Amino acid sequence: MNFDEIIDRRGTHSSKWDMMEPIYGVPAADGLAMWVADMDFRPPACVAEALRGMLDHGIFGYFGDDRAYKEAIGWWMKTRHGWEVDPAAIFTTHGLVNGTAICVDAFTAPGDGVVLFTPVYHAFARVIRAAGRTVVECPLVNRGGRYEMDFAAYDAQMTGAETMVILCSPHNPGGRVWTRDELQGVADFAKRHDLVLVSDEIHHDLVYPGAPRHTVMDLVDDSVRDRLVMLTATTKSFNIAGTHTGNVIVPDPALRAKLAARMAALGLSANSFGMVMATAAYSPEGAGWIDALMTYLDGNRALFDEGINAIPGLSSMPLEATYLSWVDASGTGMSSEEFTRRVEADAKIAVNHGATFGTGGEAFLRFNIATPRARVAEAVERLQKAFADLQ
Ligand SMILES: Cc1ncc(COP(=O)(O)O)c(C=O)c1O
Repeated sequence: MNFDEIIDRRGTHSSKWDMMEPIYGVPAADGLAMWVADMDFRPPACVAEALRGMLDHGIFGYFGDDRAYKEAIGWWMKTRHGWEVDPAAIFTTHGLVNGTAICVDAFTAPGDGVVLFTPVYHAFARVIRAAGRTVVECPLVNRGGRYEMDFAAYDAQMTGAETMVILCSPHNPGGRVWTRDELQGVADFAKRHDLVLVSDEIHHDLVYPGAPRHTVMDLVDDSVRDRLVMLTATTKSFNIAGTHTGNVIVPDPALRAKLAARMAALGLSANSFGMVMATAAYSPEGAGWIDALMTYLDGNRALFDEGINAIPGLSSMPLEATYLSWVDASGTGMSSEEFTRRVEADAKIAVNHGATFGTGGEAFLRFNIATPRARVAEAVERLQKAFADLQ
């Protein structure tokens, strides 16, 4: 593996690289794509080898027999996260945005409130609203550049119309690994207000060396299992998001039956490419690759943070997990239009706009640092130029 290798992704139907000009006006020729959450690295070789096996065989029929896939999930969760997963609890969806949407569809009714701790991954609100449910924003508290929860405030906000809470753990975009106490707080909150608790842990393999250990929500409190839905995937960890394969893991048999009924009604079934690639990824080779990846990303994180924090008025939240750096531009005193214009038009970098993550995100931009280090250095240089007048 060579994370320094620059691989040109332009002209490959890459959302991140081929859509930055149409969406952000950042030129494809010399722009830097630091928005969509995928990485500019090849996955571990075992993933491509598995796909090559399919290509060599050359017949691309319907997928059947998911035992190896479920075994691989079981092995990964046990060895990497200390979590025993019942194979019967695993449902395969078309990725986790789809998994979230199916949970909203299966476990809530039109008009219900769905609680989000904002700012948070933008697709949650999108699918909740599209399904005719109401987003209930419970704002995180930014305490000295670190997000925390304030359950007393959230309790006061509840009206009784809420039926679900979706947690992003680790947190995108703040990069927090929630502590066991914080997770217990979320579990208690879900019980107090009788909410289905969806824990999206798609980023749980992407924890930095030296950061606190991620705790799987299912290990926090047995008494929450009858309302718990876990979301996991290989896609973010191994950079295979194009396979659109995710796991919705439901410990409780009654919730499982409801989910199975909705999946049957929607006619969902597995994509063979995703199943084969994910099975290959959850392996000892995949584990070694993730460890090397996180060491490399740690270097990117240090370089990016040092460069950003040297610009007066900009500061990045210290990441414990994820390769998504959340940069606070409020100290510049500029409007969001102005600091965004400088990043897009002057530095020619495509980033995610903070306001799309909900209340509390307005003064932020999200930068994806999962790219060869030379590009991170280039981004820092361009940003320092674009904000040179603040020096
Ligand atoms: C928290 C979270 N959930 C889900 C997704 C996307 O999942 P998928 O590609 O499986 O739909 C992302 C992508 O960035 C994410 O950050």
